[in-house]
Amino acid sequence: MSRYPAQIATERLILRPPAPEDAAGVLNAVTASYAELHRWMSWARTGFKIDEARTFCADARSRFDQGHDFIALLTLPAEREIIGCASLLSRDPRVPSFELTYWLHSEFVGCGYVTEAARALATFAFDSLFAGRVEIRMDGNNRRSWAVAERLGFEWEATLKAYRRNNRGELSDWRIYAMFNGGDLSAARHAGRSQTVLGSN
Ligand SMILES: CC(C)(COP(=O)(O)OP(=O)(O)OC[C@H]1O[C@@H](n2cnc3c(N)ncnc32)[C@H](O)[C@@H]1OP(=O)(O)O)[C@@H](O)C(=O)NCCC(=O)NCCS
Repeated sequence: MSRYPAQIATERLILRPPAPEDAAGVLNAVTASYAELHRWMSWARTGFKIDEARTFCADARSRFDQGHDFIALLTLPAEREIIGCASLLSRDPRVPSFELTYWLHSEFVGCGYVTEAARALATFAFDSLFAGRVEIRMDGNNRRSWAVAERLGFEWEATLKAYRRNNRGELSDWRIYAMFNGGDLSAARHAGRSQTVLGSN
């Protein structure tokens, strides 16, 4: 059984690992959001088709089954539509440390969904996996992304100068935000409590 839950339910969302039949829904969400994803996500550089969606679902599922990473699709309970993705990636098991990553279907930006999902994943990392460190990294110009980290109470730990080239080939600085204790997670409005369902689906 995976060390990750079959799902995490927050006030408004279900977070769950992908199944093979999610490929079409993932493709739909990525296609609808491609302009924004291409701007900030290194994997959205040269297009994203059904084969990439299938590979993503299979890879995420395998990393879930192995208990390595929890790459979770975000869905609204009343609908089947995939509205984004939030992941808890294992970085150094000896700390243990994790990295949070996320993206949203562009139609669902501005509602607090990623803050809600990221809070649930960070809470799981600190409370159930005894994380010593959870970090979030992003392009220094990605204001919406660092706003999520700051809303959650993460500390702006460092800026790495001229760290990466973006998908347009431009050199960019990167910000690193970190948290060391789940008690520091700020309780933003309507955050709700999350509920994990054990089992590997
Ligand atoms: C980064 C990204 C996920 C941020 O999305 P987002 O919708 O701004 O973040 P959230 O879902 O947490 O929503 C926060 C927004 O909802 C508003 N909001 C509404 N209800 C809210 C609630 N209950 N709780 C928190 N925020 C709420 C906030 O005020 C904020 O809006 P504002 O920035 O206009 O003030 C999104 O822009 C994205 O997918 N970008 C492309 C991929 C990407 O850059 N990923 C990060 C790579 S490191």
